[in-house]
Amino acid sequence: MYLADENRYQNMTYNRVGNSGLRLSALSLGLWHNFGTVDPLANQKAVLEAAFDHGITHFDLANNYGPVAGAAEENFGRILHQELAAYRDEMVISTKAGFYMWPGPYGEWGSKKSLVASLDQSLRRMNLDYVDIFYSHRPDPDTPFEETAAALDLLVRQGKALYIGISNYSAEQTAAIIPIFKRLGTPFIIHQVCYNMFTRGPEDGLFDVLAQNKLGAITFSPLSQGLLTDRYLNGIPADSRAARSSSPFLNPDNVEKTLGKVRALNAIAANRNQSMAAMALAWILRQPTVASVLIGASRVSQLEANLKVLDNLSFTKDELAAIDAVLAEK
Ligand SMILES: NC(=O)c1ccc[n+]([C@@H]2O[C@H](COP(=O)([O-])OP(=O)(O)OC[C@H]3O[C@@H](n4cnc5c(N)ncnc54)[C@H](OP(=O)(O)O)[C@@H]3O)[C@@H](O)[C@H]2O)c1
Repeated sequence: MYLADENRYQNMTYNRVGNSGLRLSALSLGLWHNFGTVDPLANQKAVLEAAFDHGITHFDLANNYGPVAGAAEENFGRILHQELAAYRDEMVISTKAGFYMWPGPYGEWGSKKSLVASLDQSLRRMNLDYVDIFYSHRPDPDTPFEETAAALDLLVRQGKALYIGISNYSAEQTAAIIPIFKRLGTPFIIHQVCYNMFTRGPEDGLFDVLAQNKLGAITFSPLSQGLLTDRYLNGIPADSRAARSSSPFLNPDNVEKTLGKVRALNAIAANRNQSMAAMALAWILRQPTVASVLIGASRVSQLEANLKVLDNLSFTKDELAAIDAVLAEK
């Protein structure tokens, strides 16, 4: 039976999400990859336990994470109840609905019909009474924001979610849904958004909207799925995300196109006595609205390497300028 490290809270930083009462570990663990039916359960358990032992309290899922869709929630639920059940109140567990999950008109997007059914399915798969955060995974162009927000609000009032988040909404869409949540009194506190050295869109308005409304951000794919690490500096390993057919979102082409910049960034990181990955994570945490950075890890050693970000979170102006110069290169 797993017993958590008693020193687990000593080295982690916890940041408030906007002006809510919820604090998240500066690093959170996402289960998009590495927790499907194709991934060994013993490794999944090792990664989850190592994360918790190091003070990571937040675990992020979605209805469709796998493969197969739903498998990550099932695997997480199994490990939670077998090993980590005693620590449920020390954990923030999130899930989402919005991307394709089941056939027919109700298996995706943001209608009340879809969101309510999907959270019920997620709770069953994880064998939980409630999740801590429930997200609308993407905006639905065919459902009024009033309906999506009211469905999320209902789920809080039913006790199935404590807080609400949105993901992949633009700055404009976020600004449009905020007053609806305010009117309903929904505990909408967080936006989950893609942000990393290669994807800087949120700097063009979204971070401002969140700051003005005292909301928090959690950023996904902080390492650009592994590109912003030393993973590909000497070729494409057979067990890497870029090589695996079960991970269609990263391919050798992406590696080839970014390698020059990654080498230059790696040199800047080396001058800071930091790994490329740790520098990429610190660079995100410099944003005041970012409460947590949502990493993925295929093994415990990656998780431990990424935790080293906490040793050096600050940047000089020169370092930031040098990073900007590399990123601006054609
Ligand atoms: N809301 C959304 O729409 C959305 C979309 C995407 C992701 N997310 C969330 O964000 C989470 C993280 O996304 P992500 O997995 O793309 O994040 P990421 O941290 O950018 O990439 C993780 C991958 O990078 C590699 N890696 C990590 N640390 C490394 C290290 N120190 N050295 C070398 N390689 C390293 C591993 O790939 P290998 O397999 O090659 O080892 C790992 O699986 C997801 O699990 C999910 O919860 C949300």
